[in-house]
Amino acid sequence: MSMHPDCERVMLTEEQLRERVKEVALAVDKEYEGKRPLVVGILKGSIIFYSDFIRFLSMPVELDFMAVSSYGSGAVSSGKLKIKKDLDRDVSGRDVIIVEDIIDSGFTLANLKALLSERGAASVKIVTLLNKAERREYDVAPDYNCFDIENEFVVGYGLDYDEQYRHLPYIGILKRSVYEK
Ligand code: IMP
Ligand code: MG
Repeated sequence: MSMHPDCERVMLTEEQLRERVKEVALAVDKEYEGKRPLVVGILKGSIIFYSDFIRFLSMPVELDFMAVSSYGSGAVSSGKLKIKKDLDRDVSGRDVIIVEDIIDSGFTLANLKALLSERGAASVKIVTLLNKAERREYDVAPDYNCFDIENEFVVGYGLDYDEQYRHLPYIGILKRSVYEK
């Protein structure tokens, strides 16, 4: 299959994604043996990773979703997370697994983890597809991470730029010319 012309190169192929997602999912499955966690996908970026990930789990799981964004951007950011779509399920007493596409500054997951703990979750762990450790500003780390990546803007396998490229089956590095206009 040919690469999208807006990509500079493929960073992770379909095969690499499939293998590593399976490996991580099996490790998570093992850790939660005998439990019935609530698996929370963060919309929309995690959708493809999420659907591949959950199909490797053999434990009973419940699925739920949240959509979040940070209030504004730049100078007057209140540092608060805005919930665009909340969970259907009550998390109190539940073991929660957050599934996210990427940790960048850590703002989203640091806030989300605190929020779900405040709501009385028995445990909150983070599973991410990608980790840009170099960009971290907030004190949060994934419990499970599929790939550490360099500070490059990537798209595909759920990740977007301006709502495009989410459907690409691989992770590609977006050409700078696409976003530096
Ligand atoms: P954080 O709150 O700064 O950790 O940002 C996390 C969010 O930023 C992710 O859920 C993505 O939506 C977005 N993001 C960060 N880096 C990238 C990237 O390289 N490609 C696409 N989205 C990204
Ligand atoms: Mg996102």
